[in-house]
Amino acid sequence: MAHELDTVINRYGTDCLKWDYMEKWLGVPEGEALPSWVSDWDFKAPEFITKPLQARLEHGIFGYSERGDEYFNSVIDWWQERHQVTLKKEWFHTTPGSLPAIAMLVERWSQEGDKVLILSPVYHAFYRTIEHTGRTVATSKMHNDNGYYTIDFDDLEAQFKDGVKVMIFCNPHNPGGRVWTEEEVTRLCKLCHQYGVYLISDEIWADIVFGENTFFSCLRVDPIYFEKMAVCIAGTKTFGLPSLRLTNTMIPNEKEAEALKSKLLAYGIDVYSAFSILANQSAYRHGKAWVDDTLKYLDANNQLLADFIGNELKQVTYRVQESTYLAWVDCRDMGLADEELEKQLHAAGVIPTMGYNFGEEGRGFIRLNLGCPKSVLEEKIRRLRTVLK
Ligand SMILES: Cc1ncc(COP(=O)(O)O)c(C=O)c1O
Repeated sequence: MAHELDTVINRYGTDCLKWDYMEKWLGVPEGEALPSWVSDWDFKAPEFITKPLQARLEHGIFGYSERGDEYFNSVIDWWQERHQVTLKKEWFHTTPGSLPAIAMLVERWSQEGDKVLILSPVYHAFYRTIEHTGRTVATSKMHNDNGYYTIDFDDLEAQFKDGVKVMIFCNPHNPGGRVWTEEEVTRLCKLCHQYGVYLISDEIWADIVFGENTFFSCLRVDPIYFEKMAVCIAGTKTFGLPSLRLTNTMIPNEKEAEALKSKLLAYGIDVYSAFSILANQSAYRHGKAWVDDTLKYLDANNQLLADFIGNELKQVTYRVQESTYLAWVDCRDMGLADEELEKQLHAAGVIPTMGYNFGEEGRGFIRLNLGCPKSVLEEKIRRLRTVLK
């Protein structure tokens, strides 16, 4: 039976980064290539998001907007029900995306040249944020056991001893696909506390979790560890709203919360897009069943790719992700240089994000976006077959 997410929608001509700007960013001419890079999906937003937006559009006055009670409550209720986390209104700092808040916190919690640590491989923009704030990137390589990533806590501790000021943690992990367990998250928070390292946990993938895995937020650890912590949460990935630019960064420590509020005031980030606020509150309030169903669809896509790789490819491996709709595919045994692999994939008409963007440990990997209708994924697989076989 057809699923509403099966519908293929043409995104060309919408100034869409992923489809319209492949030439600008990757030198790939618009046309036959199927983008599998930027992590947004190709699904239309459901009516419980679009209808309120249409009504707001019809209203026709787009003056300055605030965050109303329903905005806070819709997020608070979602996180309570879905993640057993009790958020407080005072913790919210609402910014256009996660990175502005992360950058401001890095600037507050460290000095120029200080080390900011990330696990590698990791979401590439973290490197950019650390470098552009004048800090030094410190990486801790994760263990990779047949595609199953774990934190090297011995290395982490050694680096913390050596003077790391801030750690940016990705929970769940992009691109490793891990949903960190309660034990891992607790151990990490304890270690940060022990060495006085500020922890920024980017949890914007929290809702995209598959199977038996349970997301465990840093906000579920003992509050004694909240002193030097910030947690980014968003509906961006959950509901497909990245261009509406909205993240809530939670800061439980009152003094640190005030400090970020003051920074936001300084930069004039204290009024909000009416559309972003409305879309998010409608999504959080009415999205439960839709998200559950979408997760099943994404899970099936994930399985389709895993079956293709497992059954047909000899030199490529893929471990089904626990989270995200981004498949992290290990092509190292093909023995091709990254540039050559990239060239061949582009020629075949599939555009992944090459693994080296996520750090040295990403060399030989590709990241594929599975957030697309099944028929599009099938076509991507047909094209991948010609290169990866
Ligand atoms: C872990 C992580 N953080 C942040 C972002 C960027 O999010 P935003 O849309 O808030 O800039 C992404 C986007 O893929 C991501 O994967």
